[in-house]
Parts: sequence; structure tokens; C-alpha cells
Amino acid sequence: MSRTEHAPGTRAEAYAIAFEESLEHPDTFWLAAADAIAWDSAPTLALDRSNAPMYRWFPDATLNTCFNALDRHVRDGHGDEPALIYDSAMVPTKRTYTYSELLAEVARFAGVLAGQGVAAGDRVVIYMPMIPEAAIAMLACARIGAVHSVVFGGFAAKELATRIDDAQPVVLVTASGGLEPGRTVEYLPIVDQAVEMSEYPPHTVIVKKRPSIHGSATDYRDRGALWSDWDDLAADAADADPVPVAATDPLYILYTSGTTGKPKGVVRDNGGHAVALAWSMRNLYDIGPGDVMWSASDVGWVVGHSYIVYAPLLVGATTVMYEGKPVGTPDAGAFWRVIEEHNVSALFTAPTAIRAIRKADPDAVELAKYDVSSMATLFTAGERLDPDTYSWATEKLGVPVVDHWWQTETGWAICANLRGLDPMPIKAGSSTVPTPGYRVGIVDSEGVPVPSGTEGNIVIALPLPPGTLAGLWRDEERFVKSYLSAFDGYYLTGDTGFIDDDGYVFVLGRSDDVINVAGHRLSTGSMEAVVASHPAVAECAVIGIHDDLKGQRPSGYVVLKAGVEIEEDILRTELVAMVREQIGAVATFRDVTVVPALPKTRSGKILRKTMRQIADNVEYAVPSTIEDASVLDALEKLLRG
Ligand code: COA
Ligand code: AMP
Repeated sequence: MSRTEHAPGTRAEAYAIAFEESLEHPDTFWLAAADAIAWDSAPTLALDRSNAPMYRWFPDATLNTCFNALDRHVRDGHGDEPALIYDSAMVPTKRTYTYSELLAEVARFAGVLAGQGVAAGDRVVIYMPMIPEAAIAMLACARIGAVHSVVFGGFAAKELATRIDDAQPVVLVTASGGLEPGRTVEYLPIVDQAVEMSEYPPHTVIVKKRPSIHGSATDYRDRGALWSDWDDLAADAADADPVPVAATDPLYILYTSGTTGKPKGVVRDNGGHAVALAWSMRNLYDIGPGDVMWSASDVGWVVGHSYIVYAPLLVGATTVMYEGKPVGTPDAGAFWRVIEEHNVSALFTAPTAIRAIRKADPDAVELAKYDVSSMATLFTAGERLDPDTYSWATEKLGVPVVDHWWQTETGWAICANLRGLDPMPIKAGSSTVPTPGYRVGIVDSEGVPVPSGTEGNIVIALPLPPGTLAGLWRDEERFVKSYLSAFDGYYLTGDTGFIDDDGYVFVLGRSDDVINVAGHRLSTGSMEAVVASHPAVAECAVIGIHDDLKGQRPSGYVVLKAGVEIEEDILRTELVAMVREQIGAVATFRDVTVVPALPKTRSGKILRKTMRQIADNVEYAVPSTIEDASVLDALEKLLRG
């Protein structure tokens, strides 16, 4: 479809109206958006401000998110429409679930969970690969008012155990394994170990056995009463009906990396989430019933929660769930095949995936083999879309390539080019303009707004729109400390950037120790904790440095204990293995450099930013607070030669 684009610098009218309305009259704006949802008890009030800064959306309403995602469409006669297309490049296999079929599977698995004693408000941890049962388990939780917490399959047992202990689930749902190129990831030994480590283990572990994954480690039947088989339980269970819950009740907890090793349990509510996601589908992604959306992410990340599972189903569209990589499964044409075969109109992926395709197929020879004319837009997020990758994708695909910026915490885009409301001219390097509901600003370290074009901390004025985090799981203090206390009245995004004269937002990077590796959010703090536990290490720093393919990669710098003699190669091998074992393969921790000392401020703070600038070979200023400038010189000599 083609829409008129506006000249740079002129605010698109429909966008400006919606944006202003959302900020000036948020109650009217979001109550109107709430009409898209089938409520058990409709909201009469949009925002409860009585407990500010703990705002609550739709405080007097009740609904069931699963009913909205499935039952409603079947009730309205769309049961035969495709809801979820599963496409695995790994097995390989394909299966389409209609709305009726998906509903039947979800209702049955909800019955299974209820049979295991899961009630409204109870937690269920889901540790699964990209198979339909992951989405089925999520929706089944939503159906009975249980709170799911999906843990990405690339995390190791210890990370899983940390999340289990925080969420304290009644049940853990898993599968016999995942498939990565060239290797099978056996899940059951990982789950076994995690359960063993946890203080609050689940009562039951339900295992979906994948026919493609055999091997002794999958023989969980011998592992005792804790373990149950998904199919056996489903065969004996009754279907469960949707349970109305308060709009403010939690739908899920999603753990994400913070600056410390302890992950943050981002809590999403039911009502605000449903309203915001439904609004975003038409206005941002331009997707509705009959359209196919493919988010090439993983259900373990927020993109997977919002745009593989919930949003497409809430609006009666079709979602694609893809198990595979952009390259090597089997080649750099994998994405284009999926688009052609399933008639995808919106593809949403991370820039790193496009860079991987470009690296393998710079002339887009693979692309030419497929008919991708169904694709109206390519959306990217997870990291900044670098102008080079933007230009390549735009030229090769011939469709708008739209960068949009968001976080696990917000659940949907803070800034975007609203393709369904008022497409605006794209500026390379910018995620365009603030989405309705988000009053975005840039402030200096004192909280004073900076002029346009000046870099600073990106903040969002409170209250945040619906769909954003309701808090951190059972840790209000950390929520306030992490996000709300830096600048009064603002949510601190942790990102830095600037806004130009046209109001376009440019997100440049993080101001904390969170890094993004191949679109995966990781904490350098948790890697440092692992590295520091090696007996030869006196102190260490892990920083995110530039990586041409993955955007960033972790890089470790260690100071040895006095008198310790260990070859650098051996130390590296041991540290890499420790991080992989304790955090997971997804950490992609491979670089280790032994240094004589770490550069620090006089108060003992490691100068990570300066270290990053040296490693990335960019200009840097020696901080005035430095304790010993010769340490920086030594580091520069070592890294830059
Ligand atoms: N379960 C188990 N292991 C996993 C995993 C999972 N779900 N996902 C990744 N891993 C492992 C990989 O097998 C790899 O292990 P290895 O060190 O043994 O090779 C390691 O974690 C790193 O994985 P990844 O970062 O994905 O690197 P890669 O080299 O396998 O692939 C890309 C590179 C760019 C193709 C890939 O990162 C990609 O497709 N990125 C897109 C990211 C994305 O969708 N992000 C979501 C935000 S929108
Ligand atoms: P996550 O919580 O995994 O979604 O990661 C959120 C972080 O990823 C943000 O705080 C940013 O640092 C980064 N990020 C996500 N999308 C973008 C984008 N479009 N541009 C720049 N950075 C992004």
C-alpha cells in the first residue's frame, strides 16, 4: 500500500493530533483505544493516579487476555482463519494452526495447568525453544489468570535458577530440547540442575517431548515424580475456560538484564498491555485481520512476547513463529523464503540479522530467488539500525525500513514511524518520533533539558502509557531506585541520545552497563561476577565493545592476583567456559585480555566508558577524576599497539 509521506520537518497531521491528544487527554485517548478489547467489565476510568508514581491503567476493568487473543475471534466466526504458522528451518517442518485449533490446544493445556494446582496469580516458568507449545503455554497461563515467566533457552542453569527463585513458580514447562545449528541443546539436564540449585523449586516440571530430539538425557521418566509428560497430561485433562482478571493483574514477568548480576523481573499487566498492543498493530505496524506478521525473534525476549504471541492474535491477524537463523539454516535466503511462503506483510527483526544476511549475501542473490512482494515494511529494533545497514536493506528490499526503539520495560515502541497512522520520512539513524503516550525528553546529568541536537539522557515524563511496566516483581524499591529516582517525574530509560530540530529521536547507546549483543540484552555486571570468581583473578572489568556483526560484544579485562602465573590462553579458555556454563552460550563471551591494572577514578570507580573508547579506537578525553593516568597509557599501548 502507498501512503503520502510528508516533507521533512513538517509534522504529519494525524500523528500530531494523536500524539497531542494522548498527552493532553490521556484518559479520553486510551479509553477510546480500549474499545478494541472485549472486556468482562469495561473500564470507566483510564488511569488511576492515586498512588503515583505507581500508576495503574484501567483500574476498574476486568478481562481475559487469552479470550481476547483466541475465543473472541472464534466466537465472531473467524475460527478457520490462520492464527499461528510454525515454520522450523531446523527440523524442518511447517504447521498452521487456525484460531479454532489454537484455542483447542490452549484450552486443553490450561486444563493441564489447573490440574497441577495452578490458580490465578500463581507463576509458571516457561523454558522452551521456538515451538508452538511455548506460545500455547503462555496463552494457557493467561487463560486461567496465572502469571508466566518465559526464560530464553540460551540461558544456563544458574540463570534459570535465579529466575525460578524470584518467581517461585508452581509449575515449570519445558521441552526435551532446542535445535541450534550443528548441535542439540538438551534442556532437561539444564532444568534438572536449575531445579536442584533453587530454593523454591516448582512442584511439577511438564516436558513437551520433541520427536526430533532423542538421547538418554531426554529420558526424564526416570527422574522421579517431579517430571510429567505434556501429552500424557493433556490426554487426561479437561478444557479450562477463560477466567476474568483485573486489568491491573499481572499477565507475565519477564526478566531482563540490569546493571547488577540480578535480573529485573519486569511485570506486565493484562489490561494496559492488551489496549496498547492492539492500538500499535493498526497504527504502528499497519497490521489487521488477514495480514501476516512475522517477528523473527524468540519468545524468550520481549519482542517475542509482544509481537510473536500477543499483539497479532489480539487483532485477529496471523503470526509466524520461526525456528532458525537468518543465515546458515540453510542459507541467507531463509528469511525471504519464509516471507514468500507465508505471505508475510510485516517482518520485524534485529539489525544484526540483516547484517548477517548482508555479510553472507552482499548482492542479495538469494533475495532474487523469492517473491517477497507481500512485504510492505521491514521493522527493526533491539539495537540502533546503523545507517549502512539501513541503506543496504532499503535498496535491496525496496520497502520502507523502519527502525523503532523500545525496551523490555516498555513492552512496545517508545519511538517509531507510525506506518498505519501517518508514515513520516525516514531519517537514517533515527527511530523517528515519540509514539503517542510517550513524552520523551533529553536531560543532562542534573536533569536539566538540553537544546535540540545535544546528547543527553533520554527520559520519559510520567505517567508512562498503558502496556509499559507495572513495576518489578515484588521489588517496588528497586523499581523506584532503578527508573524513577534519578530525575523527579521522569522514567529513566538508561539510553542516551538526542532529538533534532524536526523532533526526530536518535538513540545512541546506554549510559549503564547493559549491552546488546546480536539484539540480546545482557549485563556486563553478571559476566564480571563470573570472571571475578576465577582463583587467578584479582579484579576485572567486562565492557561492551563494537562488533561489526553483532553490534556489540563483551570484552573482559583482568588483573591477575600477585604471584599467580597462568598462561593467557589457558585463562581465556577457562573464563570463556565459566561464563558459558554460568550464564549461557548467548553471552558470547570470548575476549579476555590480561592487563597490569584497571583505570580508575580517585574514588575507585572503573573508567569503563574510557576503556570502551580505547578498545573501539575512538577519540577520548582523559577524565579529570582519574587516579593514575599512566594506567590508561598502558592500556592504550596494549590495545592499540
Ligand atoms: N538456545 C540455546 N543456545 C542458543 C540459543 C537458544 N535459544 N540462541 C542462541 N544460542 C547460542 C548459539 O547457538 C551460539 O552458541 P555457540 O557459541 O555455540 O555458537 C550462541 O548462543 C550465540 O548465539 P547468537 O548470538 O545467536 O550468535 P550466532 O552466531 O549463532 O548467530 C546471528 C548470529 C546474527 C545470526 C543471530 O544472533 C541472530 O539471528 N540474531 C537476531 C537476534 C534477535 O532476533 N534478537 C531478538 C531481538 S529483536
Ligand atoms: P531490550 O530490553 O532487550 O528490548 O533492550 C532494550 C535496549 O536495547 C534499549 O534500552 C536500547 O539500548 C536498545 N535498543 C532497542 N531498540 C533500539 C533502537 N531501535 N535503537 C537503539 N537502541 C535500541
